[in-house]
Amino acid sequence: MTADRILGIETSCDETAASIVNRGTDVMSSVVASQIEIHARYGGVVPEVASRAHVETIMPVIAQSIVEAGVQDAQIEAVASTYGPGLVGALLIGVSAAKAMSLVWDVPFVAVNHLEAHLYAAFLEEPDLEMPLVILLVSGGHTMLIVMEDHLRYRVLGSTLDDAAGEAFDKVARYMDLGYPGGPVIDRLSVDGDPQAIRFPRAMASDGWDFSFSGVKTAVVNHVRKNPGVEVHDVAASFQEAVVDVLIRKARKAAQEVGAKGLCLAGGVAANSRLRERLLDVCVADGYRAFLPSRSMCTDNAAMVAAAAWWRLQADGPSPLDIGANPSLRLPVV
Ligand code: KG4
Ligand code: ZN
Repeated sequence: MTADRILGIETSCDETAASIVNRGTDVMSSVVASQIEIHARYGGVVPEVASRAHVETIMPVIAQSIVEAGVQDAQIEAVASTYGPGLVGALLIGVSAAKAMSLVWDVPFVAVNHLEAHLYAAFLEEPDLEMPLVILLVSGGHTMLIVMEDHLRYRVLGSTLDDAAGEAFDKVARYMDLGYPGGPVIDRLSVDGDPQAIRFPRAMASDGWDFSFSGVKTAVVNHVRKNPGVEVHDVAASFQEAVVDVLIRKARKAAQEVGAKGLCLAGGVAANSRLRERLLDVCVADGYRAFLPSRSMCTDNAAMVAAAAWWRLQADGPSPLDIGANPSLRLPVV
């Protein structure tokens, strides 16, 4: 089944987002209402607060996405929403809104996997990406090394055994009182720091495909405790370098082993300047095509949800309306 003009909805964590995308690539509107300011005072996302904010924001955000796209309700051919993984109370708001709109407009409902949506962010801007692709999916909740063999066909080579990469950025920033979310702050501070100033551990760097980031986080905490006067920019840059180093080494090795055509970044941490720079360097050195989605498409948004829905709808048809939110949903693998 096909439906070209799809309304996507995203509420899995702390962004309320809606977007209208035509044929999985043409972004007609993308509205993101971030709750960062609401959660910043707690130093992290408070699930109950997130759900309440989604309830308040969801309808205005959807309305804005329709106005900005310049379409009439009757021109929307399907409604999609992230149904997992994420915070169950937050997911339910988007899923319920999408089901209601699909009933009212009598169009298909598509339940979208948030991880698959992050992968499809790349295709929004580069529809003709050649596969196999090695994708580093790095966000606040996930760190996965994925081989995309074809559309909707994935193999997960490795994932994190403890903290996700973004989680490590957030925890280090919280410990150092730098603010929330930690990734963008550490990225900014690192510009004026020396990445070689402190040699933080690169756990499992040449050991299989999995990742572990809780050790480097503890190493930063111990270093700062023992050296209270340490230059914060150097700590930020050295920590960032340690995380990026491991991510890049494994992605490079994976690309070599699977004969990838390209290397691609996805997820919130893909907005990281140093990670983007290092990935480009590897691609230039080894001759892969590099694909770095724009920063606004790396962090949570609904255009990626509508893009993934376009592909899923063709492959699997509409989702049943009795499908619920699934907070621990996994990426469907071949
Ligand atoms: O994909 P995302 O918006 O939400 C999840 O699905 O988790 O990712 C959010 C994560 C946070 O941990 C945030 O600190 C991190 O992405 N992040 C960054 C940067 N921008 C966002 N990490 C490193 N450098 C950045 N520039
Ligand atoms: Zn995400």
